[in-house]
Amino acid sequence: MSERAVCVTGGAGFVGAFLSRRLWQEGWHVSVLDCCGPEDGALVADLLGHPRFRFVRGDATVRRDVEDAAAGAEVIFHLASVVGVGTTIGDPVRTIRNNIDSMLHVLEVARRQKSKVVFSSSADVYGILDKVPLNEDDDNLYAGPHVRRWVYARVKSLEEQLCFEYHRRYGLPTVVVRYFNSYGYGMDYDSPRRVIPLFVKSILEGRPLEVVGDGNQTRSFCYIDDMVQGTILASEVRGAVGEVFNIGNDEEISILELARKMLAIAEELGMAKGLGWRHVSSGQLYGEEFEDIQRRVPGLAKSRRVLGYQPRIPLDEGLRRTLRAYRDHGVPQPAGVAG
Ligand SMILES: NC(=O)c1ccc[n+]([C@@H]2O[C@H](COP(=O)([O-])OP(=O)(O)OC[C@H]3O[C@@H](n4cnc5c(N)ncnc54)[C@H](O)[C@@H]3O)[C@@H](O)[C@H]2O)c1
Repeated sequence: MSERAVCVTGGAGFVGAFLSRRLWQEGWHVSVLDCCGPEDGALVADLLGHPRFRFVRGDATVRRDVEDAAAGAEVIFHLASVVGVGTTIGDPVRTIRNNIDSMLHVLEVARRQKSKVVFSSSADVYGILDKVPLNEDDDNLYAGPHVRRWVYARVKSLEEQLCFEYHRRYGLPTVVVRYFNSYGYGMDYDSPRRVIPLFVKSILEGRPLEVVGDGNQTRSFCYIDDMVQGTILASEVRGAVGEVFNIGNDEEISILELARKMLAIAEELGMAKGLGWRHVSSGQLYGEEFEDIQRRVPGLAKSRRVLGYQPRIPLDEGLRRTLRAYRDHGVPQPAGVAG
């Protein structure tokens, strides 16, 4: 068992909670910084009070909160972010301020105490680039700043650049991981911004699934355990420093096919019967400013080669695990089941 410490900003969120748990299970001292209070942090609720687990309720845009949470950390995993295109369209100024301020504090604190930084970016940085698969050195393609749809991509891209610049200029060890859609038990259920949580919510509420457009657009989905594995590998592999890696699963599926698959699994698990689906416009679901993309598949050659990353959980298996957890435990509650 290691006596070494890490800090996870945004560690009460979906990916951060699973990452924190995994690091804690591996013997690390884990310090979580999140502005949501521990009473809201359902996914880490059972870790509270453990000697190797510390929850700092604070704001990553406040330097002393980052200093407090990250004190002594070998690695700072920076996941705190305003998340999701719908939310960011709603408040671009808050999105920019929250993400840029917190990224700068994390980098400065890391520089002072010589920590490594692993930054969680997003596949959204590729924008509307019409290419399959998307590779790390591909261009970013999106409209100018008057189109609010792309504020999330733009700010994540700028955060990436800050990581690269701190590496180049100060020799700070930074690694960027670009996540493609993750899913699992505990993802954003109350205000779902992503398709799998939306479908799960409809199944649990006994409503037809809402398929955007004709449903022929495709995505690739990565089970949370694989996302966490890729993130940890990025922190461990020496050759990863100064680099960016796609982390996801390259199994591609259309949204309509996903709906059919989830309904079939839900029926098999006794959670739904004959719900079906209905088609809606993206505007109905995400607002008129939303611009959908047709395909998004991660190129994983670099992650496989440099990190030894390999997603292990096929979509069928991951969806079954996820739906079964919702059937058996219900929606995670503040003091409820974790993990
Ligand atoms: N889940 C995915 O599929 C996915 C895809 C692409 C990128 N990402 C990135 O991965 C990271 C984690 O995503 P997630 O899905 O777990 O999101 P999430 O919303 O579940 O978690 C984000 C957490 O950050 C916290 N936070 C936000 N601003 C903060 C601040 N200033 N100070 C302290 N805490 C703050 C929130 O309270 C929340 O708990 C984010 O950076 C996101 O952009 C995730």
